[in-house]
Amino acid sequence: MITYLLDARIDGEPLSDDSMVGTLRLLLLAGIDTTWSAIGACLWHLANHADDRKRLVADPQLIPTAIEEFLRAYAPVTVGRRVVKETQIGGCPFREGEMTLLSFPAANRDPSVFPSLIMSSSTALRIAISRSASAFTAVSARTWRAWK
Ligand code: HEM
Repeated sequence: MITYLLDARIDGEPLSDDSMVGTLRLLLLAGIDTTWSAIGACLWHLANHADDRKRLVADPQLIPTAIEEFLRAYAPVTVGRRVVKETQIGGCPFREGEMTLLSFPAANRDPSVFPSLIMSSSTALRIAISRSASAFTAVSARTWRAWK
């Protein structure tokens, strides 16, 4: 990645030192927080769900859908956005200039989108490690698949 940045040209010019350092800072933060959270959540889930652990060991082909499912259920990232135009969403007013948090962890457990996968009142979150990824595709999945 660093070689790619060093070789990159915009309008024939290399990136400035400031751009390079800023991009590397972003890569460092974006690459560390996300991955340790996601890996930790996977390990925590598998440590607490022997049935899923045994299924993955017996059938490693389930790993890609299991990863999609872990990223849905234990989403490690919540993004922020600045409101650029006054509006209302679900009856909630948004004024220009305000900051919002778009909670992936909440959206990924929205019962209207994932009706069969949401926590029942008494049991733990349902994780369907063999579920088709089409109902949920992780933001970075396309890149990840392309690199495989
Ligand atoms: C489980 C792993 C990861 C997840 C769930 C994840 C998720 C995300 C999400 C949701 C965004 C969009 C943020 C936004 O629009 O505000 C994002 C952006 C970004 N991610 Fe990741 N990410 C992961 C791993 C990584 C890794 C390993 C790297 C680099 C080594 C990385 C680099 C970036 C960068 C540079 C951006 C900003 C792109 C831009 O400026 O538009 N991410 N990631």
